[in-house]
Amino acid sequence: MASGISLRNVRKSFGATEVIKDIDLDIDPGEFVVLVGPSGCGKSTLLNLISGLETLTGGEVLIGGNRVNDVPPRDRDIAMVFQSYALYPTKTVHQNITFGLQTRRIPKDQQEEAVAEFSRLLQIDHLLHRKPGQLSGGQRQRVAMGRALVRKPAVFLFDEPLSNLDAKLRIEMRTEIKKLHQRLGKTVVYVTHDQIEAMTLASRIAVMDNGHIRQFGPPEEIYENPVDLFVAGFIGSPPMNMLPGRIRHGEGRVAVDVGEDLHFVLPSKLSEGLSVAEGHEVVLGLRPETIFAAGTELPGPDRFLFERPVEVVEPTGPDTMIVFEIGEVEVIARVRPEDARPPGTPFSFEADMSKAKLFDAKTGRAF
Ligand SMILES: Nc1ncnc2c1ncn2[C@@H]1O[C@H](COP(=O)(O)OP(=O)(O)OP(=O)(O)O)[C@@H](O)[C@H]1O
Ligand SMILES: [Mg+2]
Repeated sequence: MASGISLRNVRKSFGATEVIKDIDLDIDPGEFVVLVGPSGCGKSTLLNLISGLETLTGGEVLIGGNRVNDVPPRDRDIAMVFQSYALYPTKTVHQNITFGLQTRRIPKDQQEEAVAEFSRLLQIDHLLHRKPGQLSGGQRQRVAMGRALVRKPAVFLFDEPLSNLDAKLRIEMRTEIKKLHQRLGKTVVYVTHDQIEAMTLASRIAVMDNGHIRQFGPPEEIYENPVDLFVAGFIGSPPMNMLPGRIRHGEGRVAVDVGEDLHFVLPSKLSEGLSVAEGHEVVLGLRPETIFAAGTELPGPDRFLFERPVEVVEPTGPDTMIVFEIGEVEVIARVRPEDARPPGTPFSFEADMSKAKLFDAKTGRAF
């Protein structure tokens, strides 16, 4: 069984410092929710409030509809996997996995059944007799997951479980975790500051900043419709280009004047109903993949053509990043490798303005 989780007006202070500021969050049973945000924004604290490792300063936590404020961690039917998985070095993999079941006095045959099931699933069934010191980082990580899985809890809490692994292993384990979730259907709350991990794993992402949740929604929504400059800048790699400019009205269309004689004409879906005065300070958001070499994509409405000299060329393999400048701002375009030109060359860019985002420069909110 999977349980939903609800946070109601949740607050947490350490001394006089409030680190979780009135958070409301409803997580459906079986969901995979990822908490992302910069270091120190309160991700681990929020997870620890759900697990019961930290006590609330205010508000309520409900798991499976039951208020658990006063329920100790071991009775909350949850399992946690941390960044440092702290396996017992003198015990074998098998003993590490079953230790929690033994202390809970689970019958031996049920223990063996669970070990068999999950060690096969995690592909560590051939390592059960080894000690943690004889395992690779990824294998140790799997043992820590196995230890959590065999308890068959209703909720899993993960706090940056992959951050000690090298890049290749991280991607492999990411896929494993996703497979496990698809197969077991348990509720997962997963903390990371890796926004790619967030995008690939989450059914919904909660973007946190300074003790608040800025936006909570499916990955595509967070990516396509960020509510403010913070979310827009946090999700996406390379990040969204942010061009400061001023509103220009003319010939029935609204444009953003970013200086250097460039007036990015807004698509009708953005300009219709936009009641912003001439000269209002805005930020135009253009993701790197929405700027490409002119004429290389199928023609579409709302394209804006402009020319700038190439500053830096960064091949990544499948695409090449071209860095150029508009005013003081460095802008990144993602082009096909064959379209790249050396630094100093004038380059004709085409921006797909139907994907452009517009933000108020003062409040940071999206229009
Ligand atoms: N026990 C504590 N006493 C005092 N302050 C604390 C305590 N635990 C955390 N904090 C503070 O609360 C804030 C949030 O910490 P938290 O560990 O939740 O951040 P985080 O988002 O998990 O960051 P990171 O990405 O670095 O792990 C930080 O400013 C931290 O210094
Ligand atoms: Mg943390």
